[in-house]
Amino acid sequence: MIEVSHLKKEFRIPVQKKGRFAAVRNLFSGEYTVKRAVDDISFTVNKGEIVGFIGKNGAGKSTTIKMLSGILKPTSGSVTVDGIRPFEQRMENVGQIGVVFGQKTQLWWDVPLIESYRLLREIYKIDDTVYRENLDRYIPMLGLEEVIHKPVRQMSLGQRVKSDICAALLHDPKILFLDEPTIGVDVVSKKYLHDFISEINREKGTTVLLTTHDMGDIEKLCSRVVVIDSGRLMYDGGLESMVQKFGAVRSLMIEFETPVEDFRIEDAELVRSEGNRKWFSFHRDKATPMGLIRSIGDRFPIHDIAIIEPDIENIVRNLYESR
Ligand SMILES: Nc1ncnc2c1ncn2[C@@H]1O[C@H](COP(=O)(O)OP(=O)(O)OP(=O)(O)O)[C@@H](O)[C@H]1O
Ligand SMILES: [Mg+2]
Repeated sequence: MIEVSHLKKEFRIPVQKKGRFAAVRNLFSGEYTVKRAVDDISFTVNKGEIVGFIGKNGAGKSTTIKMLSGILKPTSGSVTVDGIRPFEQRMENVGQIGVVFGQKTQLWWDVPLIESYRLLREIYKIDDTVYRENLDRYIPMLGLEEVIHKPVRQMSLGQRVKSDICAALLHDPKILFLDEPTIGVDVVSKKYLHDFISEINREKGTTVLLTTHDMGDIEKLCSRVVVIDSGRLMYDGGLESMVQKFGAVRSLMIEFETPVEDFRIEDAELVRSEGNRKWFSFHRDKATPMGLIRSIGDRFPIHDIAIIEPDIENIVRNLYESR
C-alpha cells in the first residue's frame, strides 16, 4: 500500500551572517548549510495495517509524513502510496488519503464545524450518501454533537483533534496519516480516539500510519512499529519483540515509612534517592516488582510504591545504544 524506498529529504538553510547590512548580504550570499532530515529510509506498509512510526523529536517523522502526503518533494528516493507518487500526482493522492496533524488544524478557524465539513464535501466532491452516512456515524462515535455548530476557535484541544479526525475520514480515504493525534488529549478522549481508529481500521480496512510519543497509543493500536532516529531507520518489526529487546528495563519507586540509608539489592539497581523515596531499575527477565517489594519490605516498612514502564524515549535510547 505504501512503498518507501531510499527516501531522502534535505533542507537547505541559508547561512545567517551578522553585522552591517546582514539582511541584504544574507539575501545575496547564496550560502547554505544542508540539513538531512530523512536519510535513506525504506519501508513498506501493507493494506489494512496500523503501523506506529516513532522516534525522538527531530527524528524526521513529520518530514516523512509530509512527503507521503505530497506536501514536500523528496530530495531523492521514491515514495508510492497505492501506486501513486504523492508529490507528482497530488490531486490523485489527496483523494485517497486523510491527514491529521495534531499540532495544527486543517479546519477553518472561524467557521462552524458543520460548515467546514460542507466545504470539504464540495472540495473533495464527496458523494452525498457517503458524506451523510459517514457524518451520521462519526459524530456520535466521536462525541461531536455538542460542538458541531461551534467554530474551531471555541473548541477544547481534544474536541478540535476529534473534529480534525472526522474531517480526514469524510471522503472514505484508503490511507490515514496521523501525526501526533493525541498530543495534549486527556485519557478519556484518548480512549475514544483509540476505539474509533481501531473500528475504522477493522470495518473499512483503512491503512493507518501513526506518529506519536505516547506508548499507550502504540500499545493500543499497533502490532508493528517503524523507528527512525536522525533520519535513519533504526527498527522495523513487531512491537512485542521491540519491547522485549529494548524495553526490558523497568523501574520501581518505593516510598518508605521513614528515611532509609542507601542499600544494595540483588537483581535491581538503586538509581535515585530522594527523601523517603528510592528508585530501582531492573530487567524484565531478572526480577518482578512483587519479588522486589517482598524482599525490600522484609527489611524496611514500605509506605507506597509505583511501577514505571519504559516509555518510547527510553526504548529508542536503548535501541540507539545497542547498535
Ligand atoms: N522546513 C524546514 N526547514 C529546515 N529544517 C527543517 C524543516 N522542517 C523540518 N526541519 C528539520 O528536520 C528535522 C526533522 O524534523 P521533523 O519535523 O520531521 O521531526 P519529527 O520527527 O517530526 O520531530 P517531533 O517529534 O519533534 O515532531 C529537524 O531537525 C527539523 O529541524
Ligand atoms: Mg513531528
